[in-house]
Amino acid sequence: MLEKQRPWAIFLLELILIVLSGTVAWLLRFDFTFPQPALFLRTLPLLVLLRMAAMARFHLFHGYWRYSGISDALDVIKAVMLGSLAFLLVERWILRQALLPISFYFLEAMLTALALGGIRILSRVWIQRSEQCAKSQTAKSVVVVGAGCGAAMLLRELPRSGYTAVALVDDDPAKASVALNGIRVAGSIAGLPTVVDRYHPDEIMIAIPSATSEQMRRITEVCHRTGVRFRTVPGLADLIHGAVTVDQMREVKLEDLLGRDPVQLNLDSVKCQIAGRVIMVTGAAGSIGSELCRQLLSYSPAKLVCVDQAETPLFYLQHATSDSKIEKVYCVADITDRARMREILEQHHVQTIFHAAAYKHVPLMEHNLQEAVKNNVFGLLSLMEIACQCDCEDFLLISSDKAVTPSSFMGCTKRIGELIVAARPSGRMRCLCVRFGNVLGSQGSVIPLFQEQIRSKRQITVTHPDITRYFMTIPEAVSLVLQAFAIGNNGDILVLDMGEPVRILDMAKTLVQLSGIPPGEVEIVFTGLRPGEKLFEELFYDFERRLNTAAQKIFRTQGQLVSWPRLLAHLEVLRAESVAGVPHRIRAEVKEIVPQYQWQQTEDSQDFPSQVPAISPLYVFDIALANAHD
Ligand SMILES: NC(=O)c1ccc[n+]([C@@H]2O[C@H](COP(=O)([O-])OP(=O)(O)OC[C@H]3O[C@@H](n4cnc5c(N)ncnc54)[C@H](O)[C@@H]3O)[C@@H](O)[C@H]2O)c1
Repeated sequence: MLEKQRPWAIFLLELILIVLSGTVAWLLRFDFTFPQPALFLRTLPLLVLLRMAAMARFHLFHGYWRYSGISDALDVIKAVMLGSLAFLLVERWILRQALLPISFYFLEAMLTALALGGIRILSRVWIQRSEQCAKSQTAKSVVVVGAGCGAAMLLRELPRSGYTAVALVDDDPAKASVALNGIRVAGSIAGLPTVVDRYHPDEIMIAIPSATSEQMRRITEVCHRTGVRFRTVPGLADLIHGAVTVDQMREVKLEDLLGRDPVQLNLDSVKCQIAGRVIMVTGAAGSIGSELCRQLLSYSPAKLVCVDQAETPLFYLQHATSDSKIEKVYCVADITDRARMREILEQHHVQTIFHAAAYKHVPLMEHNLQEAVKNNVFGLLSLMEIACQCDCEDFLLISSDKAVTPSSFMGCTKRIGELIVAARPSGRMRCLCVRFGNVLGSQGSVIPLFQEQIRSKRQITVTHPDITRYFMTIPEAVSLVLQAFAIGNNGDILVLDMGEPVRILDMAKTLVQLSGIPPGEVEIVFTGLRPGEKLFEELFYDFERRLNTAAQKIFRTQGQLVSWPRLLAHLEVLRAESVAGVPHRIRAEVKEIVPQYQWQQTEDSQDFPSQVPAISPLYVFDIALANAHD
């Protein structure tokens, strides 16, 4: 390459160009007759000498022509003008030889400028072309899905990242055979397998940032059939402030294929209720609690008190939130420990509580009735009482769709929680709860479980082919919880609109597709419904009216509720039955409180016997002491 040549080679090349330009100018001026060769040969050395001196003045003997640009072109022009001026001065005024025609000066200057500029441009183009050629031989080839703005941005970026696009596919008939950046639309998305057969790309890149979940599902199905690795650009929201880069390309995630498009919210209204206040999150280290903490920190609370009984997950939360400048306190504490909770609330002057601490696993809680009652019912009750005594102003309980017509004991405890929040007499503390279905990817949920099964056993266990669930992403659910917090009134049970339920079997199949494992290599096994598990979850009871709220995706329920004195009386019985520890009597009392509980008393003789000993004496003491105190 020229830049690697010795300077004398560049010098020689430019000298030859100057001599050639002068000769051609002479020929042109005299209609190719070449008169007075002696005069020409006498003049030429002076011309060449002055031109070379002018070139040296503008440092034009380097060979880095691949970077030639406007400033180099200007330098060439300046050097040529300086050389011509010097030649004219020396010729006419110093040597006093006025023998050359004036037009020769102009012609020679123009040809020299063209030759010196042209060689630079040509060599730049030639270097770039040969580099591109070399790169394209090692670059990975890509078929791009989409021929819109996203694809145009991606095509510009690909060569810089060692990729070369070989074809585009798009469903828009207007774009058939159109070329973007020289790459042609070779077919429709449905025809992708044929395009792949023709071009043999190393990868497929989906460049439709505005694709709906339905479109994404269809595209990934086709991509999966080709057997080629596929990736996608991030969504529109992530691209608003910048171009698509290959680093941003990521594997298609399950969230991209959810049955509906993620909810976007305006959370300004939340800000004024969080900013400058002391907020506590219980269950802060859990899936929902930790996302709550992350989102709350962005609303500038005065202090965030993170409470969880699980030490290591709380440690990870501390690490994950360490960047925020907001004051944070991480308390390892059990919410059923009244003294400890009172100490935390008083010490930090907590104003608002988001209560996400609970036991949530349906089959597990079927065998741990007393613990479920202790944590999800009496833990809640005691925390609300202490919060009220400590002058907290807001209390929000996270509930679940499993609380609706529950078939599980865990669901019943969540329903009792809702009843407590809704029926409790209004004091100074605003209490409300938010009910929603499954969140994608939470700890112990179906997706991480399926992913692990695909990885380790190449087998997925689904309990029933028809089982469906409502799904949301964790950030989406938490944003809605915060919005519900902003609009809710005391005693409200607010329900998040989760779109259509998703069939777990479809979700399992999609996960297999996204895993990149060839179809047919992962077996799906049906294991039968587990204890307490329902085929379909519901978001509302039959008797509940769903009322719209100021927020589009949040409904307020209106329905029969138990009176507070009656509920308290039942809770006392439940407390006593929990202490006694006879499973069917605990269930029977729970059914008294939640008549919709789908449990037949006759089952209970073989009902899941409690695996734990009767409730601990310490807990009995705790409750008794608490009652005496409160
Ligand atoms: N995950 C879902 O799909 C989903 C859907 C709807 C509602 N919910 C509800 O949201 C809440 C949180 O769910 P999650 O998915 O984040 O669960 P999770 O298990 O990830 O988190 C719960 C956290 O609470 C903590 N905790 C439990 N008991 C505690 C106690 N006595 N004292 C202190 N900390 C305690 C646990 O250590 C855990 O960190 C639950 O009430 C659940 O019913 C969850």
